[in-house]
Amino acid sequence: MNEIFSRASVRQFEPRPVEQEKVEQLLRAAMAAPSARNQQPWEFYAVTNRETLDALAACSLYALSLKGAPLGIVICCRRNCSRPEYAQIDCSAAAENILLEAVSQGLGAVWLGIAPIEMRMEATAQALNLPEDLYVFAIIACGYPAVEPKPQDRYDPARVHWLT
Ligand SMILES: Cc1cc2nc3c(=O)[nH]c(=O)nc-3n(C[C@H](O)[C@H](O)[C@H](O)COP(=O)(O)O)c2cc1C
Repeated sequence: MNEIFSRASVRQFEPRPVEQEKVEQLLRAAMAAPSARNQQPWEFYAVTNRETLDALAACSLYALSLKGAPLGIVICCRRNCSRPEYAQIDCSAAAENILLEAVSQGLGAVWLGIAPIEMRMEATAQALNLPEDLYVFAIIACGYPAVEPKPQDRYDPARVHWLT
């Protein structure tokens, strides 16, 4: 699949907004992800409001790319899902789907880690005024790339253990 191998984190974006249909397609891709017992523990906040994006950028030392991003997709987890021990794994699958769909849409994106770092989880919950039953798992900063992504070939045959 070409998107897998042409994806690389993009942290600098053009200021132009991402079209609404593309945002919806990213969210559709997220919700197409597999989840434990199909529990779909996720909720998404699609943020284009500049003040909110800047507030989210301040929630982690490593989230500065949101400052210049026209779009942030905040992936939240419901605390009361049926298999909470799998919820973050499920949300990871949704996050990766967003990253790959972004490539397919000509967009660039980067995964910004929030959970399980308590300080970041508290700060993001405050920035979004999140209901108690949700917590932020991760944020995807997204937009049209201002720099060419540079994918790496990380295939390492030494990591493969063939049992034949
Ligand atoms: C769980 C997770 C958390 C991450 N958190 C951040 C982050 O907070 N800030 C950031 O700029 N990149 C973050 N990244 C992106 C990684 O730094 C990046 O994927 C890695 O360096 C490999 O580079 P590539 O995505 O270009 O292949 C995160 C990635 C993952 C999977």
